[in-house]
Amino acid sequence: MHPILKTFSIALALTVGVASVQAQAAAAYYEAATKTFRLDGGNTTYAFGVNSRGELQQLYWGGRLAGTDSFPKAEPLGERTSFDSSFNNTPQEYSGWGNGIYVEPALKVSFPDGNRELVLHYVSHKMVANGFDVELKDVAKPIVVVLHYTMDAATGILARSATIENRGTLAVTVEQAAAAAWMLPASHYTLSYLTGRWGSEWTLNQEPVRAGSRVLESRRGSTGHQANPWFALAAGEATEDAGEVWFGALAWSGSWRMVVEQDQANAVRVTGGFNPFDFGFVLHPGQRLETPVFYSGYTQGGMGAASRLLHRFELDRILPRTAGLPEGSRPKPRPVIYNSWEATGFNVSEAGQVALAERAAALGVDRFVMDDGWFGQRKDDHAGLGDWYVNKQKFPNGLKPLIDKVHALGMDFGLWVEPEMVNPNSDLYRQHPDWVLAFPGRPRMEQRNQLVLNLARPDVRAYLFGFLDKVLTENDIAFLKWDYNRNWSQPGWDQLPAGEQKRVYVDYVRNLYSILTELRRKHPKVEIESCSGGGGRVDLGILRLTDEVWASDNTDPYDRLIQQYGFSFAYTPQVMMAWVTDSPHWENQRATTVAYRMLSSMQGSLGIGANISKWGPEDVATAKRLIAAYKQVQPAIAQGDLYRLIAPTGGSAFSATENVKADKSQAVVFAFIHSTIEGYPYPVLKLKGLDPAAEYALTAIEGKADKAVPAVASGAWWMNHGLDLGADFHGDFQAAAFRLDRK
Ligand code: DGJ
Repeated sequence: MHPILKTFSIALALTVGVASVQAQAAAAYYEAATKTFRLDGGNTTYAFGVNSRGELQQLYWGGRLAGTDSFPKAEPLGERTSFDSSFNNTPQEYSGWGNGIYVEPALKVSFPDGNRELVLHYVSHKMVANGFDVELKDVAKPIVVVLHYTMDAATGILARSATIENRGTLAVTVEQAAAAAWMLPASHYTLSYLTGRWGSEWTLNQEPVRAGSRVLESRRGSTGHQANPWFALAAGEATEDAGEVWFGALAWSGSWRMVVEQDQANAVRVTGGFNPFDFGFVLHPGQRLETPVFYSGYTQGGMGAASRLLHRFELDRILPRTAGLPEGSRPKPRPVIYNSWEATGFNVSEAGQVALAERAAALGVDRFVMDDGWFGQRKDDHAGLGDWYVNKQKFPNGLKPLIDKVHALGMDFGLWVEPEMVNPNSDLYRQHPDWVLAFPGRPRMEQRNQLVLNLARPDVRAYLFGFLDKVLTENDIAFLKWDYNRNWSQPGWDQLPAGEQKRVYVDYVRNLYSILTELRRKHPKVEIESCSGGGGRVDLGILRLTDEVWASDNTDPYDRLIQQYGFSFAYTPQVMMAWVTDSPHWENQRATTVAYRMLSSMQGSLGIGANISKWGPEDVATAKRLIAAYKQVQPAIAQGDLYRLIAPTGGSAFSATENVKADKSQAVVFAFIHSTIEGYPYPVLKLKGLDPAAEYALTAIEGKADKAVPAVASGAWWMNHGLDLGADFHGDFQAAAFRLDRK
């Protein structure tokens, strides 16, 4: 045996990956002679060591190395000039702001004596399952930081976070705290990141990394529509099918920041965690601050493989397990839902909802969700938020008759809530005007006529948990759509001393997570959607506690193709709820067929959100047929490997995706035309990810292939020769879908 394996203490765990992935061991090794830490998982190796100064220095992040390979002892990079100090040049795993660090530090602390410097050196470590906890301490002050590392065996995605502890006798203030810094050596990289706004989330941006910093962030108290906490760095150009890509996602639903920085020597680092803007967390003696977790991974298979790894990781490691399924199972594919929002707005009533439920059940819907409007004095968005009692004018006998009817129709029942908000026109606000985020003596800034409750407060937390628990206990509810329709402003918390109030940024989110955790524990069968006026709260933190997300309020089926494309870089189709709504669509006045709308939504987890009372028999028949077809292939779509065959962005006339089941037994292809131009044909789709030696039979779900296309052919044929949709597939807003089943 190579000495590396003899002298290292080995924490080895074998995790069985999905069928298509070779089960791989994740291993964490420490080599005492060189003080080197190494983590292997999937096709990735990550290594760092203690250098001669005692700093933790990154050594390697990339393709998996042989078990026999070892690293030389970490040595700090030298001082190049008096303006390029060794401290600044050395890629430190987690540096305090001290010793002349000009790059983004991971941690900045201020002390009561005016000192603001922190120089963290290695103290000790311990092995944990598939990883390490490494303890660092300031060279003089009793500030201790424990860095947590856990490697995922199947995907090679590494989870990193930090715990900062004050072991002194005086309070200190943490001004800035990252979860991790990820470093790459000098080279040319392309940065990908997601931005947007309400109704237009998930815009994929790609640009070369240049000298200086690109800041991705939310200062809004929640994840935000404007940027999503995900990044990818590709070596050279970012391409879909090949090339090295390093990618990561931050698990935090509050204000967050990632700084992608190219330093003066062209080295690149991504430092991410709490947003330091307006941050200041006081640590009293003995207290600790836990950062969010920053997950990152690596692939040589381009942007496509990067997202497939993330999707698999989300399904296997992040999302809550479905109650009742055996240990180790993935969450079950989402039920097909109906949601009342676009049909009725706030104007809900027992009779109206029952009429919609009858229509929905006839289509093959599994879950009926009543949206906003059922509670308090809620007629529009001016009143009612905070008063979570059933509106007696709309539901004279409570929710039970509606829920019973929905059950009798063979569906389960879901309900909309927006727990963190209050309208000033509500009993709750009249009783507790002090419960909102506000600065004393200043006019309160409303958005959508609502204010944000300060969930950091224990009494607000108790109220929210109490009413949610009551609603779930008193009613047979399978699902909550948890909405959140504005961002923070004026984040004051004047019940705390002035110097302590900024901890609201942390305590609010922690209380949100703790309510979700407790609700799930007490009501294990209840599933939850994270919605924030669409996709304003989608991140790996909230996804640990919710089953799905509402990707956007914009349900225009063509706009959705572009949004769904961007979404897919970071998040699995399993969680991406997509409704079929009415045509022409309210956003763009674009008219499309039911089939086009259905196929657009079938790229994710399908829902119907149209006013189906107005649908004619033909539309009903199409929707019914396609819902049935969707259910047969849903596991491949929602949990298979996604291949983006043609991007809908950049003014493309065409777009296409393919989802392949993990065991390669089935694939589903979606093809869309925005508008053909001058009769140019739809490109022949060269499929991906199939077993080349297996035979696959082609079945049309919607539309048809060219008449020369064989009914059965090998995986090699479909991948090399391709699927030709023929000259008949042309026009504006056309859609086709196919399934391939292994014989
Ligand atoms: C915003 C959500 O995104 C919509 O789907 C709907 O639930 C409304 N809020 C209701 O107010």
